[in-house]
Amino acid sequence: MLDIDDLVTKLIKGQPISVRFKYTNDKVLQEFHVLFIHILAYFDQLFLLEVSFTILKEILYNASKANAKRLFFIREALDISNPEDYQKGMAIFADEVTMKWTEQQAYLDKSDFYIQFDAKIKDNILYIQAENNAPVLPEEQERIQKRIEAAKKYNDLSDAFMDMSDSTESAGLGLILTQILLKNSGIGRDKFRIEFQPDKTIAHFQISGQVVPIITNSKFNEQILNEIEGLPPLPQSVSKIIMLCNKPDTDINILTNEIEKDAVLSADLLKLSNSSLFITRNKANTVLSAVKVVGLKNIKNMLYVSGVRKIMGNRYEKVQKIWDHCAKCSFFAKVIAMDNSRHKLADLAATGGLLHDIGKLIILSLDKKIVEKMNNFQIQEKDSSVLIEEFTVGISHADIGGRLLKKWSFPEDLIHIVEFHHRPFLAPPEHKDLLEIVYLANMMLDALENRANFFTINQEILKNFKLDNEAVFNKYLEKIDLQFKASHQ
Ligand SMILES: [Fe+2]
Ligand SMILES: [Fe+2]
Repeated sequence: MLDIDDLVTKLIKGQPISVRFKYTNDKVLQEFHVLFIHILAYFDQLFLLEVSFTILKEILYNASKANAKRLFFIREALDISNPEDYQKGMAIFADEVTMKWTEQQAYLDKSDFYIQFDAKIKDNILYIQAENNAPVLPEEQERIQKRIEAAKKYNDLSDAFMDMSDSTESAGLGLILTQILLKNSGIGRDKFRIEFQPDKTIAHFQISGQVVPIITNSKFNEQILNEIEGLPPLPQSVSKIIMLCNKPDTDINILTNEIEKDAVLSADLLKLSNSSLFITRNKANTVLSAVKVVGLKNIKNMLYVSGVRKIMGNRYEKVQKIWDHCAKCSFFAKVIAMDNSRHKLADLAATGGLLHDIGKLIILSLDKKIVEKMNNFQIQEKDSSVLIEEFTVGISHADIGGRLLKKWSFPEDLIHIVEFHHRPFLAPPEHKDLLEIVYLANMMLDALENRANFFTINQEILKNFKLDNEAVFNKYLEKIDLQFKASHQ
C-alpha cells in the first residue's frame, strides 16, 4: 500500500520519493492513479491526469514484462543472448507469459527482479523515473528506437490505426501511443527517454508545471462538428411542455392537455407513473393522474430523454445496445443514490444515466474501421476513459454529448453529467456528488462487461460509497445487477 499523503507531502517539500515493487498489475496501478491525481492537482495540471497516467502505465507494464521475460528465459534454461535460444523462447513467450500474467506475478514475487518508481519535483517540473533490473538486448533496443522513430510520422492515433493491417496484433502500439500522447498533449516528445544500462533499464519522463492544454485538431473534428450542427432542435411539442413545466404557476390541466396530444408521450408517462419507481395506492390510468403521481420535475426529465431519443433514434442505426446500457446505468445510478442517502440526487442521476453516452452515437457514425480498431484498443488497454477517443478522433463521446445537450438548451446539471461522466474529478464542485454517482454506476456496468474492474475504478470515489474493499464491491455489484434483472423481466 502506498502512503499517498506521506508521498505527496514529501514531493511538495521537494524531497525525492522512491517505491519498489515486484510487478505491475491493476492493483498497483490503482494506487499510482490516486498518487497522480494528488500530484497533478497540486500542480494544477489535472487535465494531464489521463495522459500522464497512461504513459506511466505503459512504462510500468513494459518494465514488468521485460523482467518477466528474463525470468521466463532463466526458467526455461534458455540463453536470451543466444539467437537460437532467443527464437525458441519467443515462439512460446506470448502463450506462456503474456497470456498467463497472473502466474508470472508469483514467479516475479520469488525472484530478485524489481521495478523502482522514483519521483521528485524541482523548479516546478515533476521528474519521474521507472527502473527495472533487466538489461535490454541490442536488437530489442533497436526495435524500441525504431518504434519511437516510426511514431513520428503519425499525427494522431487514427493514423496509427490506419497503418495497422487487420492481422497485425497491436503489440508495440503502446509505445506509439505514448509518443502520440507526449506530442499531442503538449508535454513534448523530448520529455520521455529510455536509458539502457548493462544491468538495468530506466525510463525517464517529466512534466512541466507550464504545460498548457492544446486543442487537438483531428481530421474528424469537422465531420463531428457538422454532424452536431446538422441535428434538428428538440421537437416543438417537447420543448413546449418543458416550458410549461418550468413555469411556476402552470395550470396542470393545460399541461395535461398538451401531453395528451402526443400519444407516445402519454403512454410513456402512464408507464412511468405505474412503475415501481413510484409507490402509489391507486393505479394511475389517466394522463392527469399520472402527472400528479410523477410530478413536474420528473415529467421534465422524461421529456429530455424522449426528445433526445426521437432525434437520435431516427438518425442512427445500431443504437439499441447504447440505449440498453444507458437504461441500466440509469437504474444503477438511482439505486446507488438511494442506498447512499443521496435521495435528492436520485432522479437527476437517473436521467443523466439515460443520456450519458449519447455522444457515442456520433462517434459510431464516423469511419467504421477506425472506430472498430479504436474500440479494440480500448479493450486491450483496459481503458474505459475517453483518452483514446480524444487522441484518435479529436473529441470524446462525453464532450460530444455535452455539446449536444448545450445545443438543446438542457439544464446545466444534465450537461455536466454527460460531459464529465468519465472525469468526475474535473466536474464543477457543485455537481461533484452527482457526477460521482453516475461515474460509479457507469464503471460498475463496465466491470460487469469486463471493461473495468474494482482496481480500475477511482479508489477515493469507491471510498466515498464505502465500496473500497474488493469483496464488498463485488457483492454490491451483484446485488444491484440482480435487482435490475428482477425489475426488467
Ligand atoms: Fe461513457
Ligand atoms: Fe457508459
